[in-house]
Amino acid sequence: MSLSAVKPTNTVTKIDEIQSVNTSSLDKIQVTGAQQLNGIIPISGAKNCALKLMCAALLTGETVKFQNSPNTLRDMQSQTELLEYLGCTVSREKDLMAINAGGIKDYTAPYDIVRKMRGSILVLGPLLTRFGEARVSLPGGCAIGTRPVDMHIKALEELGAKINLEGGYINAKAPKGGLQGAKIMFPKVSVGATENLMMAATLANGETILSNAAREPEITDLGECLIKMGAKITGLGTDTIRITGVKNLNSAIHSVIPDRIETGTYMVAAAMTGGNIRLENARLEHLTAAAGHLARAGVQVEQEGNDIIVNRDIDKPLKAIDIMTEPHPGFPTDLQAQFMAMLTIANGASLVTETIFENRFMHVPELNRMGANITVQGNSAIVRGVNGLKGAEVMATDLRASVALVLAGLVADGETTINRIYHLERGYEDIIGKLSRCGAKIKKI
Ligand code: UD1
Repeated sequence: MSLSAVKPTNTVTKIDEIQSVNTSSLDKIQVTGAQQLNGIIPISGAKNCALKLMCAALLTGETVKFQNSPNTLRDMQSQTELLEYLGCTVSREKDLMAINAGGIKDYTAPYDIVRKMRGSILVLGPLLTRFGEARVSLPGGCAIGTRPVDMHIKALEELGAKINLEGGYINAKAPKGGLQGAKIMFPKVSVGATENLMMAATLANGETILSNAAREPEITDLGECLIKMGAKITGLGTDTIRITGVKNLNSAIHSVIPDRIETGTYMVAAAMTGGNIRLENARLEHLTAAAGHLARAGVQVEQEGNDIIVNRDIDKPLKAIDIMTEPHPGFPTDLQAQFMAMLTIANGASLVTETIFENRFMHVPELNRMGANITVQGNSAIVRGVNGLKGAEVMATDLRASVALVLAGLVADGETTINRIYHLERGYEDIIGKLSRCGAKIKKI
């Protein structure tokens, strides 16, 4: 079946009816720098959680509802497109989403959708465990690295699946009677592999033990939603997750956790501009490594009820700090580019080491075009603080690199024009509105 032939007739709310920023790849963002940011920024639901929760809804024929869902994000639209292609009914209103996977008629996740967003690989485990078969396009590499899915595949084979790779697709079949629980030791910590296997194991026979599992808050949240749906899971938030398979999962209502990467990004915005920002509905407990680094750089960060307050005295320069990305609870790779933007104007030299993805310094040449002094050596970058950045025309290469350039533009002298901003709309809801309301001069051109 070709993708264009599919008309999601069962859709209650169509994607284009959702209030969303419709951006073509030619759109640019212009930031006029050196404005202090002060005010309130509401934090959206976590993209990297919501995308997986949508896949969890494939595990049951009953309706699963999500609150605080970042529905306007482009990645959420791509995931909706995929679920509708498979035969789900997806309805979305403001930040509510309801998914019914009672009418699945296709077990194939086609290349045209998967290539847009790697999060779609997460339909593999749920489809395979519930229907006994799945066909998912290999996601391929992306700008930040090769990003293989070998661990997802090997671990599903350990649950008894027969998998072959053909024509760029993962063809997976469960044994008669369904997947079998097993002890799985991941050779490397992987967020996606942990999530795929956790979902697959919920409907497998017997117990599955995932060792060297990832501990990201998004995985704990996914696990908590699965428990509400009737799954038996213990050990969430530790590196050993135990899942005892059940026959069926049911409907549930679940609220998506706040986006810790969006939160961390706006923390850096306050730090760089020397402002005072209240981040509404944000959790510092999910950002201990990042907050610790900000404190060492001279930024005040504290939780006040459901909000985080970030404050930096404009008269005290930021201090240089060293950063190394690590799996949670270490410093997140998804905040590396933003922190590097901040360190370009810190007092002294900082060492930034990227250990998760092999090609995640594409923001460096762009920041250097704005007057930064950064040298890359292997998987480390030496950032020598400069007195100020200068506005320039720059190119966004991936989601987090794009936002790092917006942050740099906020403090640069003059105008910064950021090209290819469609990356930003994959992961930041209403970024222009949220920053403008705090005093930033930022617009789409
Ligand atoms: C998720 C996040 C992404 C974040 C990353 C690391 C989503 C949609 N994306 O991506 O934003 O940057 O976690 O926190 O949630 N690896 C293998 N084989 C595999 C799987 C992974 O070698 O089968 C490697 C990867 O190439 C990478 C490392 O393991 O070097 C970690 O990747 P992983 O945690 O799986 O990242 P994602 O789940 O793809």
